[in-house]
Amino acid sequence: MDDLRAKYIDLIANAADEATLEDLRVKAVGKKGEISLQMRELGKMSPEERQVAGPKLNALKDEINAALGAKKAALADAALNERLRAEWLDVTLPVRASRTGTIHPISQVTEEITAIFADMGFSVAEGPQIDTDWYNFDALNIPSHHPARAEMDTFYMHRAEGDNRPPHVLRTHTSPVQIRHMEKYGAPCRVIAPGRVYRADYDQTHTPMFHQVEGLAIDKDISMANLKWVLEEFFAAFFEIDGIKTRFRASHFPFTEPSAEVDIQCSWVDGQLKIGEGDDWLEVLGSGMVHPKVLSAAGVNPDEWQGFAFGMGIDRISMLKYGIPDLRAFFDSDLRWLRHYGFASLDVPTLHGGLSR
Ligand code: DAH
Repeated sequence: MDDLRAKYIDLIANAADEATLEDLRVKAVGKKGEISLQMRELGKMSPEERQVAGPKLNALKDEINAALGAKKAALADAALNERLRAEWLDVTLPVRASRTGTIHPISQVTEEITAIFADMGFSVAEGPQIDTDWYNFDALNIPSHHPARAEMDTFYMHRAEGDNRPPHVLRTHTSPVQIRHMEKYGAPCRVIAPGRVYRADYDQTHTPMFHQVEGLAIDKDISMANLKWVLEEFFAAFFEIDGIKTRFRASHFPFTEPSAEVDIQCSWVDGQLKIGEGDDWLEVLGSGMVHPKVLSAAGVNPDEWQGFAFGMGIDRISMLKYGIPDLRAFFDSDLRWLRHYGFASLDVPTLHGGLSR
């Protein structure tokens, strides 16, 4: 009996996990365990022998059970301590001072644009980046033979043979959102639509993916004068220069009539570009009065409604405002560039708080 005790107490003390403990329990005090078998032997003993052996065996059984229980609790404690050690966190440490992430200038400028136009009563509209050639071209009065299609360096989506769904393109501009918005909500309306657009082009001022913001205002009596006022308000707020001068040049777009390209006043001194002074001009957007055919295509009656639209390059005006010389760097994901040109995540642009701090 002493040998049995010594053997099991030792084995239990050294058990590494619960499975081993359970195994020992079965072997010692299970139905066919060594101690249980010994107990069966009691029946063959003389009463005197039994009186000595019985209590001893019972005590041994209790002792083994107690040892098993204690070891089980110890193992659970050890596991919990190990978990607490591994998952320990010092919540009293001060916040790390270095910024680990920044807001991309495009995101920041998109927020700035949205804040300014929201103040003038424009809400934000959205459309898909993969669109049909009808929304991207036809509905905007650019039929299939039109040279503007070729000029846009369009990315066409692959079509399997026998696929007779309409051809899809990566939208080449945000103008299709005009159609989608009027189709769904009709007139009157006043929206901007910022977003990604795509063209097969790549150099210092062109990337295959870039950003535009579309503007659209339709009502009974909206004119070019309203367009001019809205854009001048926008540029003054965006560049934070009161009375910034703009120049409207007659131009042509299939989806507007009349059409104008808009330049803003700037100066080039020693290769440095300054906005709002000097006698040079920089083109920043296309605009005009929405063509009656475009209104019709979107289900809006051109005899009843009229309005203006514009399309502006977000990347372009970001480069101007924040002095970023190469467009390609915007999309290189270079951490040093992002730390340099990025914005703190809590620096949310608002008109009352200041657009760029
Ligand atoms: N969609 C034109 C482009 O990508 C820009 C544009 C010009 C948009 C005139 C307009 C507009 O809404 O009226 O080049």
